Amino acid sequence: MKPTSFLQIPDLSTDQLSDLLEAAAALKAARGKEGDQPLRGQTWALLFHKSSTRTRVSFEVGINELGGHAMILDQNRMQTGRGESIADTAKVLSRYLHGLIIRTYEHSIVEEFAREGSVPVINALTDALHPCQVVSDLFTLAERWGKPGELLSSLKGRKIVFYGDCGSNMAHSWILGGAMAGMEVVLCGPGEHRPHPQVDEWLQRAGLGRHYRFTTDPLEAAAEGDVLYTDVWVSMGDDEERDQRLRRMQPYQINTSVVECARPEVLFLHCLPAHPGEEVSERIYRGPHSIVFDQAENRLHAQKAILALLGKSATLPNSAS
Ligand code: CP
Ligand code: NVA
Repeated sequence: MKPTSFLQIPDLSTDQLSDLLEAAAALKAARGKEGDQPLRGQTWALLFHKSSTRTRVSFEVGINELGGHAMILDQNRMQTGRGESIADTAKVLSRYLHGLIIRTYEHSIVEEFAREGSVPVINALTDALHPCQVVSDLFTLAERWGKPGELLSSLKGRKIVFYGDCGSNMAHSWILGGAMAGMEVVLCGPGEHRPHPQVDEWLQRAGLGRHYRFTTDPLEAAAEGDVLYTDVWVSMGDDEERDQRLRRMQPYQINTSVVECARPEVLFLHCLPAHPGEEVSERIYRGPHSIVFDQAENRLHAQKAILALLGKSATLPNSAS
């Protein structure tokens, strides 16, 4: 079965997640060579209500490399800005486009686009989730630890520790993605920033169980860690809480003391953009454990794999309901 939209990682079956990692590896190896163009003749639009560097550019490049046409929609020039409903917008755009990639605030907005429209919707980040980032991160780890044909299984049993805002889109996506990959997920941050209970509902609905734990102790959390991960302490939309967040998060910086508690070969990941000196020390950010730029590059290969999967089922937009 093909997913029609990709709003969160459990929208994929385990086999589909495995196929995506393998496809990302194949697309990475084949980049620049003549290959299949699964989006040939298709037009995909990007609608971004929040800033983006990596996601927007890598999706646009990815669509072009897969033979499709990428259209950037300017929120300020659309009628949604003047009160047209999401439902009507989704129905109308479905008559023109083969797929829609959306970055926005409330998660319910991408759900409504997917429900009311009839073309695939890809969640390019909401306040609640950033699934494309974690699919790409799983690929980044699997290409280090596994070999083609066994990428997903190479992640099983590995321990990732996420530091900082554990109620963020990145933390939530790691809970879901880590559970699907069979990883041990530990979230570590201030008690005021625990994962949202909605994530437990999503886990339950996907039949995944509660495969993570939350702790406030940064050194205990790191023990035997294979991966240390962090994100900004002030996400887009959280600026009003800036001062109190920076104060609360201080004990959760990934620095030499934390890294020394993990496995010697531990990898440091960050979705970027980063603020070295805040959530991660300069030394760790620029040091030998850090693979953040390989990680950023892999957004392109992983997103091409997602586009190719969803693009296969996209049909010519027409008046079919
Ligand atoms: N990691 C990530 O999604 O980066 P952008 O906000 O630049 O897209
Ligand atoms: N948590 C961050 C992720 C940025 C890619 C934010 O939402 O701003």
